[in-house]
Amino acid sequence: MAREAVPPEIARHAPLAPMYAHRFPLGAAVEPRHLEGADGHLLAWHFNAVVAENAMKPPRLQPAEGRFDFAAADRIVAFAEERGMTIRGHTLLWHEETPDWFWRAPGGGPASGHLVLERLRAHILAVVGRYRGRVHAWDVVNEVVDPAAPGCLRNDRWLQVVGPRYVEAAFRYAHEADPGARLFVNDFETTQPAKRDCLLGLVRDLRARGVPVHGMGHQMHVDVDRPSAREVDGTLAAFAALGLDNHVTELDMSLGPAPRRAPGDETALLARQAARYGEFFRVFAARPDVKAVTLWGLSDADTWLIRGARQGSGDKPLLFDANRQPKAAYREVAGAAR
Ligand code: XIL
Repeated sequence: MAREAVPPEIARHAPLAPMYAHRFPLGAAVEPRHLEGADGHLLAWHFNAVVAENAMKPPRLQPAEGRFDFAAADRIVAFAEERGMTIRGHTLLWHEETPDWFWRAPGGGPASGHLVLERLRAHILAVVGRYRGRVHAWDVVNEVVDPAAPGCLRNDRWLQVVGPRYVEAAFRYAHEADPGARLFVNDFETTQPAKRDCLLGLVRDLRARGVPVHGMGHQMHVDVDRPSAREVDGTLAAFAALGLDNHVTELDMSLGPAPRRAPGDETALLARQAARYGEFFRVFAARPDVKAVTLWGLSDADTWLIRGARQGSGDKPLLFDANRQPKAAYREVAGAAR
């Protein structure tokens, strides 16, 4: 995107990131299409950090073994670098998005754990190596914990084929590729006690064995009811006590399931959402261990909560409305910075 003048309907609102610049970078998750037009302006105006919503996931970057496609990811990185924005990397390993070829042996049949780890190393060295010194933090493993599983690791293909050592391996490969990058475990519902205990146990164990893990990524796909800002504060404190950085990696706040929303409720829900966004940001701002906050999208015009199967949900989880105008939530977040 050429750096045309910022349209007045965007420039008339105070940019958010500078209000928090003394505390942490404020980011948004984007697709390449959000770098253009009104979205591009909104992103550059209010945010000083960026993450690829999907463009850096393994099936996008390496759709077939040895065939890399960095075009979309590079566009996001270039946009950020031209504007001095910070870049988070998401993600190197996720059970939902591991390309099928990872699991197949060259001659047919299932790949061995050894081969899968070799492929993981090749993927991580290529990806983290390409963005070495430019992507400052990586979600190395995403959603690997399940409190219902014995041993706390999700019973997915990674565990079944490689065994629990895949987690440690992923961190060691990422560190090898970029010793300066901050490396994160990223997960959802980190305030849920059993889940939190599993995650604390996992990082404690990794660190005790000298594995380079630097922080906990808290997705924070929350809603207007749960969790409380107090619970969030408690969870952040528990990870900080281990000496870890906290990143809020995917923040959005759903209005709740559509069927449970009575007609006429929306005004009250948006007010509640705004108040809770304010409470959350007060917690983030007060905690020195919170080193980055990222919203999972730019505006209510286009978020994962209204795409695909959720189309028609009418959800409005972000700080800017479908016309890219600030919501009450934006005003509360701005207020919480003072
Ligand atoms: C989601 C994207 O927002 C969607 O566009 C995609 O179809 C699926 O993935 N946790 C994560 C993110 O770590 O990668 C997910 O992103 C949302 C949940």
